[in-house]
Amino acid sequence: MSKTLQAIRGMRDILPNEMTTFHTVEAGIRELMHGYHYQEIRLPVLESTELFKRSVGEETDIVGKEMYSFLSRSDEPMTLRPEGTAGCMRAGIEHGLFYNQTQKFWYLGPMFRYERPQKGRYRQFQQWGVEAVGIEGHQIELEMILLGARLWQILGITDKIQLQVNSLGSPACRQHYRALLQKHFHQARDQLNEAELQRLARNPLRLLDSKNPALAELIASAPRLDMHMSNEAKAHFAALTQALTEMGISFVHNPHLVRGLDYYQHTVFEWVTEALGAQNAVAAGGRYDGLIEQLGGQPSSAVGFAMGVERVAALLKEDSIPKVMPDVAVFAVDNDIAVQVQAWTESLRDALGLSWSITMDHQGGSHKNQSKRADKLGARASLLIDKDAWEAKAAPIKTVDGWVSVPLGKVAEWLRLNLTQEKV
Ligand code: HAM
Repeated sequence: MSKTLQAIRGMRDILPNEMTTFHTVEAGIRELMHGYHYQEIRLPVLESTELFKRSVGEETDIVGKEMYSFLSRSDEPMTLRPEGTAGCMRAGIEHGLFYNQTQKFWYLGPMFRYERPQKGRYRQFQQWGVEAVGIEGHQIELEMILLGARLWQILGITDKIQLQVNSLGSPACRQHYRALLQKHFHQARDQLNEAELQRLARNPLRLLDSKNPALAELIASAPRLDMHMSNEAKAHFAALTQALTEMGISFVHNPHLVRGLDYYQHTVFEWVTEALGAQNAVAAGGRYDGLIEQLGGQPSSAVGFAMGVERVAALLKEDSIPKVMPDVAVFAVDNDIAVQVQAWTESLRDALGLSWSITMDHQGGSHKNQSKRADKLGARASLLIDKDAWEAKAAPIKTVDGWVSVPLGKVAEWLRLNLTQEKV
């Protein structure tokens, strides 16, 4: 026997028994996006490598070590998208969607990052992302946060998720702050490892969210960005936090929240949970006003966030997701009437419509075995049609109330009358 093949490390199969959870999350997203009038956009999973270098940033972990990049057959450098914002902005610029107009987009799809796989962290994972372009002011940031809060409410997981917010200030504030941070960490250079020394030189803000315990004290004593921000940047952030308070959305101001992508400025936020171990970020985003111009478009403000679908699915209580049973199961007990019964089942589907879930059993066997399978399937009505019943033009139907024989021509009507009450 040949060796069985396995999925590539970090690429996760989502099996049918998990689908209900994913469908619940996706249905919540669609309902929410309809309710807030956001437009869906579907984008390619492959983009030019240059796009991510110019947006996410060459110095970030994502671009530096986590991308699935390769040369196409015609030697063009391309990358499986590690996130959705860059492609969404590329598409908007390319199709002139940002020219003198505002946009509110959402997308759902797979992203790819070559990270070390563990619970809640995969190399292919799904993101739901939301991007609003051309809208200044803190109200749109508030709307982004309200979207998250409402989804947690729809899914019944509000109590498991907390909001953290921070401001990175304007690029000018950051420039000044960067120099201060470099000075601060420089004095303890010998405590930094190779990667941290690189960060110190290129992107010292990332040292603030380092998990290295040796840095904890240095991080705690580091100068705070909010002490070195312009009055304008401070006022912008204060307006947002005040609005959150007024709307009763609880949050924590985490001055060390810096995000792992380079395009942010001013507000950044993260929804975190304690229920998933090390992978505590459920959704995250912020303002990224400079990005569209950086990618060759007109200067434009932009805000967005993305949520890890697998992480949210893992937060849903398993017992709150009912297993989906068919409404009706049809068995052709005798093999020689199997095709006729299948044709009749088609007419039953025509009569009831596809909102009724009707499964047909094709396995044959004795009446006793088929009856056992019917019980295991758990349909609300099982039809075990044998040759005698077929000739008598009647269907023996089993429900929780026992057996009943119904003329074949009246089965649809009978099911509608007798099962509709319970249908959820
Ligand atoms: P991000 O923080 O890199 O932001 O990812 C957003 C979310 O995707 C994370 O909070 C997490 O839930 C999920 N996620 C990330 N990596 C993995 C992984 N390896 N396995 C499972 N889930 C993961 C962005 O991607 C930005 N594009 C968000 C954004 C949109 N900012 C503005 N607009």
